[in-house]
Amino acid sequence: MKTWTAIERYQPYAHYSQHLLTKLEKQQQDSIWHLVYHIQPKSGLLNDPNGFSFFNNKWHLFYQSFPYGAVNGLRSWVHLTSTDLTHWKHEKTSLLPDTQYETHGAYSGSALPMGDQLFLMYTGNVRTANWGRHAYQLGAWMNKEGDFYKLPTPLINQPLTNFTQHFRDPKIIHHGNNYFAFLGARRADDTGHVLVYKAPKVTGPWSYVDELHFGSSSLGYMIECPNLVFINQHPVFIFCPQGLSKQKLSYENIYPNTYIVGDSFNWDTLTIVNPSSLHNFDSGFDLYATQAFNTANGETYAIGWAGLPETKYPSDQENWQGSLSLVRKLSLQGTHLIQSPITTDLIDTSFDPINESLDLQEKVSFSFKHFPNGKLILQADHSDNRLTIFFDSTNATVKVDRDKFGKKIGSKFGTTRTVKLTSKTKLDFTLYLDKSIFELYLNGGSTALTGRYFPDQADTYHLDTSHLKSQKFDVQGWRLKSI
Ligand code: FRU
Repeated sequence: MKTWTAIERYQPYAHYSQHLLTKLEKQQQDSIWHLVYHIQPKSGLLNDPNGFSFFNNKWHLFYQSFPYGAVNGLRSWVHLTSTDLTHWKHEKTSLLPDTQYETHGAYSGSALPMGDQLFLMYTGNVRTANWGRHAYQLGAWMNKEGDFYKLPTPLINQPLTNFTQHFRDPKIIHHGNNYFAFLGARRADDTGHVLVYKAPKVTGPWSYVDELHFGSSSLGYMIECPNLVFINQHPVFIFCPQGLSKQKLSYENIYPNTYIVGDSFNWDTLTIVNPSSLHNFDSGFDLYATQAFNTANGETYAIGWAGLPETKYPSDQENWQGSLSLVRKLSLQGTHLIQSPITTDLIDTSFDPINESLDLQEKVSFSFKHFPNGKLILQADHSDNRLTIFFDSTNATVKVDRDKFGKKIGSKFGTTRTVKLTSKTKLDFTLYLDKSIFELYLNGGSTALTGRYFPDQADTYHLDTSHLKSQKFDVQGWRLKSI
């Protein structure tokens, strides 16, 4: 594989040829891992979802992109729109890193519809000559035609004095007469915080108010991608703490994507009142940088990057990496999120998942009257490739094992993920299969597990239920459309 110099990774896009881009796009399109109903890059690297919003009668979504390879290069925001949250169209224009405040990338941020324009607030990443870092918080307008107009100067120029330049990913919210921006930050003492800024207008002046108070004085060494959303008045804080102690939360991925739910939110003191303990947003192998937002009528939608920072994926060999999860509608049950993927417009025909073969383009739902024991295997017909889901009723656990499913991914962090469920009595789950990703929703979406897999060859599959120890279950299957 190509070795990239820093100069190559951060040179302006104009230095790359259209010919190269066409070649990379074809390579992605021809891949056996090319997804059929998940968002993936046309070429190169995809990471965080950005600017998820509803504007001009359409859903808008952007993703962090480096179009020229599966490496951390110069990031832009690629723009997608949808009318149903399942079929997404790549728009022609991207938010490009083309000013002096974002020479090394237009990093993550969020969007707010304002009249006939969408306001974007994001982080401009600048590297100095000796590779020092500078983070600017920038603003841009997007009109109904999808043209971007950047504000000429940064909204926030500097982090606070006792903070490092790891200061990014503004989540912008309108409340009362003010706009608030929640920013992930790393303090000079290497602790992770969320800093809150306030402005009377989105264009500023922005001034620092306080930290977000969420029950811990700090978490890990850095917090990335903070989101604050409200579900039935309850604040839900979704974020990515890096370097989090495993005493605070059990997790196995390099960095977790977590959430906290509160009783209420005090806007005067920026406090999540009576915060819950910390939960994993997704208990699978690959989910990070989830972005969530509230619609004008109070619904909450989220989408995550089905990938992890600092992790190699087999598709890197084909010069592309990353995908997004399905869009999930969020609701609350006590202090737990319920995640319901939006898939109505994806359903094609029903099929019999026990007697018919699968193509990794299906939705399969199982419902057990009693918590099962044993295992369910998704077995390839012409190779050893398989995904195994183990059930243990004594401990009420479900374990997903991707060890034998084709190429190795991040094995250093383990090849299984186990979740302990609260109910020992019953179990239902829905499994979404796409060509190189699965999403498993347990007990109505109270637990979600997402993971990539990279089978060695294109194949057909069958579901082996013979190890389920003759327990009664109902099962239904649906073929899914390509988007
Ligand atoms: C999270 C992240 C963000 C940053 C972006 C850069 O994955 O590191 O904090 O804005 O990716 O692409």
